[in-house]
Amino acid sequence: MFGPAGRRAVEERLPALREELDAGFCIVNGENAADGRGLTPKIADKLLAAGADVITLGNHVWARDDIRDYLAGSDRVIRPANLAAGSPGRGLTVAPAADGTPVAVLNLLGSLFLDVPIGFFEVVDELVGEARLRTPVVVVDFHAEATSEKIALARWLDGRVTAVVGTHTHVQTSDARVQPGGTAAITDVGMTGPHDSVIGVEADLAIGRMRTGFPVRFRPAEGGTRIEGAVIECDEKSGRAKAIEAIRIPL
Ligand SMILES: [Fe+2]
Repeated sequence: MFGPAGRRAVEERLPALREELDAGFCIVNGENAADGRGLTPKIADKLLAAGADVITLGNHVWARDDIRDYLAGSDRVIRPANLAAGSPGRGLTVAPAADGTPVAVLNLLGSLFLDVPIGFFEVVDELVGEARLRTPVVVVDFHAEATSEKIALARWLDGRVTAVVGTHTHVQTSDARVQPGGTAAITDVGMTGPHDSVIGVEADLAIGRMRTGFPVRFRPAEGGTRIEGAVIECDEKSGRAKAIEAIRIPL
């Protein structure tokens, strides 16, 4: 989700949406929650109160200083697992769904066009193994730019996790599918936020920077807000996905 418009959408609509969709567990990527970059403890608490069970992050994880201590003490807000050794917080957590089923959530950063110290393939197998020791229901938020990496990781993990869900591009892709091994995947779930924009930012500011190269202070846009995401249905005993549907709800 992105900026104040995205935050309002989550806070106002998520409680009822969980009911409508009969969603027992909800993961929100919150790395653009604070005015488009980063997450603050206050906003994290509000998103959790609105019905997010786990909040994941991404390349803007350290944009706000005060999130470091918060991450160190939280098991509901996680950051990418493949950051520098010794980074505060955790990249994998397990939390109960509404019916008590434990759900593991793993957050990873892609390599292409992102500055990561550790490649995701270096760490993913061990982390998935660790998650599966605790529960068969494992969801991966793969925060990455390149469609190729996202499809490759979804294929690599097919049969070992419940879902590989892409974030970061803010553009929903039309490839939601359950793969042959039972792992649901979508290259990008899109953006809950202002779509009358350039991926969340006021369009004239984003275009101005591209055209001139001058530094521009971005402002989050406000118009055309919609909720985007994916609903995944799975078998809680095996962890296999039964269905995945991308959702797009104008507000
Ligand atoms: Fe990102």
